[in-house]
Parts: sequence; structure tokens; C-alpha cells
Amino acid sequence: MKINNINFLNNGYEKLGNTFNKKECWRLIKSIHKVRNFKNLFLSKNIWLSKKYKSVKQNPSPGRNLLNKLETEFIFENKKLKKLFTNILGKSYRILDAKLVMGVPEYMIPAWILKYTKNNHTVNLGEFIKPKLRDITYFRGIDFHQDIIDYPTRDADFVTAYIYLEKVDSKSSPLYLIPKSHRLGADYYPHNIKKNNSNKMVYKVGKQKIISNLEILKGQAGSLFIWHPFILHGTQPHKKDTARISVRILAEKNRRINVGCILDKTNKKIVGKNKLNIYNKELNKEGKNKKRNFINKLK
Ligand SMILES: [Fe+2]
Repeated sequence: MKINNINFLNNGYEKLGNTFNKKECWRLIKSIHKVRNFKNLFLSKNIWLSKKYKSVKQNPSPGRNLLNKLETEFIFENKKLKKLFTNILGKSYRILDAKLVMGVPEYMIPAWILKYTKNNHTVNLGEFIKPKLRDITYFRGIDFHQDIIDYPTRDADFVTAYIYLEKVDSKSSPLYLIPKSHRLGADYYPHNIKKNNSNKMVYKVGKQKIISNLEILKGQAGSLFIWHPFILHGTQPHKKDTARISVRILAEKNRRINVGCILDKTNKKIVGKNKLNIYNKELNKEGKNKKRNFINKLK
């Protein structure tokens, strides 16, 4: 099997297209719906106001991760995925984290939550979800960010893989990604991004600048995407969108053994910071600064 990772090396991401068996994706979706009633996800406003479950993690964590309870061999044993991870991270790569993420459409969300989160740059719905059901990450739009944000003390020694389990078109919160943005290194949110007159994205860090097309990641069920932890990406919620459930995997290289892998070569081309060093409260903890959202302004 030949996969060259020239796009990853140059642009910081890969679109692998249809990689996983569609029927298996559908079976996984059905098994999720079998154990989860999506009509009964949210806390009542009074319980939320009481802050009773505020300390419960908003995202899947060890011991409470629905993906780990389901049959997913067709994903983790997929030859193309393994080959891709091996190419980019080296033979001794390790899965760092894997979970289900769900883009939640407006009609499923109670009005009081929509009102409370209106125009937020990040809508992780976790805090509003019943604690036992926080075994999936539920979101409704997230502004452009780098995945390194969750690991401020690491450098770029991991990648994110994203698998669409259902067909994703413009109405099911496709991912938006800015090719080459990783080249300017790790940087804090909010990022300095503008759109120029030729519809290109202009991203600046200090005196460095990248001008790039916006990539909208649409795809069939079973599509695979992978990106560098400094790549800017996000999603824009739409009025009439439909739910989408995806699998998100983080995979890391073995720092001692996998020296010289494609990720290392990619990192050599980076100008700017190789890590953040400070936990970025702005995006992860607060998510409330309404003025800062950029992705929702894109047409
Ligand atoms: Fe992300």
C-alpha cells in the first residue's frame, strides 16, 4: 500500500477519502443510537444553575468513554490508518486518546442553552449534559484553534485523526481547516486571521504570514482526515444543520525511537514557537468571549 504524505509534509494535513467500510460505520452509528437517547441529554436549567455537576468532566475520560465500549476493530485495525500513523509518526506510535464527537444541531438543544451560548466562540455543550452521558464530546461550533491547546507543555509530537461516520456536507458542520497554518508554530487563541479580497485566508503570527485557501472537509461516511497539532481548524454551526457523529483519535510518536519520521520533517519547516507553555484558558475554560468568534463570520 502506497501512501505518500507529501500533503502532510507541505500543508500539515491529509485527506484520505473513503477509508473505512461504510456498512461498519453505519453499524457503529446504530449501536450508538441503541444505547443513547439523544432526546434526553440535557440537564434542566435549575439543576445546571445549582452547579451540582460542575466538577464532573465535560468530555469523555477513562472509565466514561462510550467509544471504548463499542465494537471499533474496523477502525483501529484498519490497514490504511495504521500505515498512515506509521508513515507520519514512526512504527512505535501510540494512541493517546480516542473518543466520539457529536456536532449537535440547533433543534436538539433547549432554548435556554441556545440563548446562554449565543455567539460564543466555542460551544462545548458538556457542562449542560447529564453527567453519565458525558462519554461523548457534544459541541455546537468551535472557532479556529490548534489542537496543541489541550497539551500546552508538549511540542508537536502527535497528530489528530478524524473519521466521519456519516456523510458530512455543508449542512452537518464540516470541519474548516487552514492549510499551511501549522508553519507559523504554536500560538495563543484568538488567532490573527482575516479573509482577503481574493477569498484567501491571511494568518499572521508576529511578522510571519501565511496566505492560504480555506479547506472545507466534506466527505462520505468512512472518510479519514489527519492534521498537525498546529493546524488551525474549527466548525461553524448552521441554522439547519443535521447531527454528525465522528471519531476523533490522537496518536503520538515515541519520542525516543521515532526520530526522523514525517512529523519530525514537518516540524523542521516550522517557524515560531514549538509549544505554548501556558494553558490557554481563553478558549478551553471560558469560551464566552462573544466578540472573538471569527469562523462564524465566514460566508
Ligand atoms: Fe480541534
